[in-house]
Amino acid sequence: EKGGYDYFMLKEIAEQPKAVADTLLGRIDGSGSLSLDEVRIPVSVLREVDKVVIVACGTAYHAGMIAKLAIEHWTRIPCETELASEFRYRDPILDQRTLVVAISQSGETMDTLMALRHAREQGAKVLAICNTNGSTIPRESDAVLYTHAGPEVAVASTKAFLTQLVACYLVALYLGQVRGTKWGDEIEAVIRELSDIAAAVDTVLETMEPVRELARSLADKDTVLFLGRHVGYPVALEGALKLKELAYMHAEGFAAGELKHGPIALIEKDLPVVVVVPSPRGRSVLHDKIVSNIQEIRARGARTIVIAEEGDEAVVPYADHLIRIPATPTLLQPLVATVPLQVFACELATARGNEVDQPRNLAKSVTVE
Ligand code: BG6
Repeated sequence: EKGGYDYFMLKEIAEQPKAVADTLLGRIDGSGSLSLDEVRIPVSVLREVDKVVIVACGTAYHAGMIAKLAIEHWTRIPCETELASEFRYRDPILDQRTLVVAISQSGETMDTLMALRHAREQGAKVLAICNTNGSTIPRESDAVLYTHAGPEVAVASTKAFLTQLVACYLVALYLGQVRGTKWGDEIEAVIRELSDIAAAVDTVLETMEPVRELARSLADKDTVLFLGRHVGYPVALEGALKLKELAYMHAEGFAAGELKHGPIALIEKDLPVVVVVPSPRGRSVLHDKIVSNIQEIRARGARTIVIAEEGDEAVVPYADHLIRIPATPTLLQPLVATVPLQVFACELATARGNEVDQPRNLAKSVTVE
């Protein structure tokens, strides 16, 4: 069943290019626009949406954080992403013009289910992004966009996450398309880029041996920090979550701009710090700021592990370890930047003798609140 791999997680990491391609399949038509008829919320309703709220837990929440940036950029509709377990307890403001997007691999997570029930009671429309056909969350939603990752067995989510991202981009682009936003040209370009993204994920997978080596060399460390900005911030959080789940290590993700407001006090000699660097071609100001962050932490003795786009030479002098990823549009970068972090966590877990597919204390789907 593991297809020759030692763990389901390794198999599922390797399946990501196909999972991403399958999730796009049939959803982009020949003319390069999106056909998402399966989203059974009338276009007239989608045109009136004045707020999007995303609810999810764990890894799916990180996908939601990235979705917020994509939705706001491509549609100019205000969007917030919230932990499903916090959502209904703060009396959120919801009405008929609110679109709630519930993201869940299993479709059975009780926190997410309770959040969407609350949203529907308030009159909001709910769109589920889910990987499990016929599960409870899609059944209780107004519409569903299924991710086509195939069954995910390992408790720590990998291919489901990448397909959640793809589904989120599709929803964002679709909202932009039906509402005819001023980013029309950019939307078309991004749709083209999305079609090539499976190949980019494949390229990353082919270059992971140095990442595995690096992970093994860090097996006796206690702490790893992760830094990112913009879409790189949720990627940093996801990298840290993977390491907690699998390696049982203390791992924290920070928004790199916050470094100076506290976390920099943690930096000491030989502390591994993973930095997700934004594309220098996209938001170049952010890129330059993060390069300064890498310099600062390295000057304080940190061991810098830098994930940067192919061709980004500015990071080279400050990277103790450099992990290259293919160039992508800024908003799509998480699809390639997350993969090395999955491999890193999986290899560290193995090196530490942990059970990769069934980490202690965790369950694949948590059906209690
Ligand atoms: C957790 C799982 O408890 O639930 C995580 O261990 C997962 O891996 C989270 O991300 C949310 O699950 P789901 O099925 O709602 O995406």
